[in-house]
Amino acid sequence: MGGRIAAAPERDNGGMDLEAACADMSPSPYDAIAELYDPWSRSVTEDVPFYVSEARKSGGGPVVELGVGTGRIAVPTAVAGIPVIGVDSSAGMLEVCRRRAEAAGVAGLIDLRPGTLDAPPVNERVSLVTCPFRAYLHLAGDEERLRAFRSARDLLVPDGRLIFDVFTPRRDDIEETHGRWIEREPGIFEHADWDADARTLTLSVRGPEGETTMTLAWLSEPEWRKLLDAAGFEVDACYGWFDYRPYRSSEDMVFVARRRGY
Ligand SMILES: C[S@@+](CC[C@H](N)C(=O)[O-])C[C@H]1O[C@@H](n2cnc3c(N)ncnc32)[C@H](O)[C@@H]1O
Repeated sequence: MGGRIAAAPERDNGGMDLEAACADMSPSPYDAIAELYDPWSRSVTEDVPFYVSEARKSGGGPVVELGVGTGRIAVPTAVAGIPVIGVDSSAGMLEVCRRRAEAAGVAGLIDLRPGTLDAPPVNERVSLVTCPFRAYLHLAGDEERLRAFRSARDLLVPDGRLIFDVFTPRRDDIEETHGRWIEREPGIFEHADWDADARTLTLSVRGPEGETTMTLAWLSEPEWRKLLDAAGFEVDACYGWFDYRPYRSSEDMVFVARRRGY
């Protein structure tokens, strides 16, 4: 497990070697596309105001973001004045996040830590833990998912919330995209191999700045609820999109779960 990179209040990730700090973790498929990730996800913007607004509602922070990536959500959250503890297993993604935070003038509000979703290196207790943009789909089985939910619960104060989004693909989406290279952004291509029986997606991405292949695994809404319940959460809401519309069998699910008990 990676250790903590920098500690508030004297956070200064600038001199830290994120690669060395991540060296004792398994290699991440995101390392190869760390420079490609922001151009690849350029059109994904709808979730940013949602997560920033939820961070504002949670008080003064810090918010723990699991799978913080390049700071697509963490940087605007910090710009809104809310400190973020960002955990990720990819040294490359954390390095891009560090640069992005610096460029936005909020490096002092973002505390980056190499670590995994199921054992985040966080001792603080917070009122909000988030895991945006489907990062939990990288967990391979129920055991790992339960470990991840239980460790997220352990980070929360009583009544604290875990907010994350995931998806279940529609059949027509699978049929439309299966086995094809699709140009998602100019010069950036995506290839999806869906296994509807195993409920896994093998996703390849390639572009001028790198290429990679990663696996995602999806569950139904009741299955996510069951795991949350087993991990000690009440589900406050499950939305179908970031505008708070209720979930009604759409692809996207946005869960707001509250820590049960003490
Ligand atoms: C789809 S990106 C989301 C990044 C960011 N939250 C966002 O909204 O843009 C998923 C992130 O989760 C990280 N990740 C995937 N599996 C992980 C694991 N087991 N432990 C820690 N981080 C993980 C990846 O490195 C990547 O940065």
